[in-house]
Amino acid sequence: MRAKNPIIIFCALAIFFINSAVFADVSLPPPQSSEGMGVFEALKKRSSVHGGDMGTGKVSLGELSTILWAASGLNRGEKGWTVPMANGLPPYVTVHVAADDGVFRYDWKAHALVELSKENVKGKVASQSFVGRASYVLVFSTDPEGLKALRDQSAAEEFACVLVGAMTQDVYLAAAALKLGTRYIHSMKLDAIQEALGLPEGARPIAVMPVAK
Ligand SMILES: Cc1cc2nc3c(=O)[nH]c(=O)nc-3n(C[C@H](O)[C@H](O)[C@H](O)COP(=O)(O)O)c2cc1C
Repeated sequence: MRAKNPIIIFCALAIFFINSAVFADVSLPPPQSSEGMGVFEALKKRSSVHGGDMGTGKVSLGELSTILWAASGLNRGEKGWTVPMANGLPPYVTVHVAADDGVFRYDWKAHALVELSKENVKGKVASQSFVGRASYVLVFSTDPEGLKALRDQSAAEEFACVLVGAMTQDVYLAAAALKLGTRYIHSMKLDAIQEALGLPEGARPIAVMPVAK
């Protein structure tokens, strides 16, 4: 067998290491799971922040960790989540996070953020400009691979919407408990989301939620 060109091997390795160094996963601190505001008080306080009141303060990584865990984190071993899924499947809706310093996918298994780009797309994903002022903007999209595992394929999109309802309500309650502002947003810029998040074919964005302080 002919030896491979060492220049090609060197270039491939260089590209591999440069990419690994550029895109780094972010470990999230453990979410808050005790103390603080109780669920009944959070239910009383749950509301959507008005666009004009969207704060520009910095939401901490710890607060974001709690919000993401509430949305679709593990709460009982390796097969129990904060939200109910059809057939007990793992989450078939993906949560992306648009931040000042880039775009990330929430990895519920590792409770970590997987960096996808270094671009600030907060102001691009929704039609209403106040969304871009928030510290973080969450985007909820269907995961076509995850949906394939559903027994009833004719109900897949419906089940995904039910899941987004549960996830976003959990975000509302966690935000209320942490005294953060949020709002369910349907007025999305679908093409911009597709481009910014690099969603797989067949994935459909369902909602956006700014998380602000
Ligand atoms: C399915 C759905 C779609 C929504 N879409 C938008 C939207 O595109 N833009 C917006 O500003 N608010 C949107 N909202 C937020 C609602 O306007 C808000 O929940 C409603 O005014 C009630 O206020 P509350 O959440 O404080 O009870 C949406 C809410 C839901 C449930």
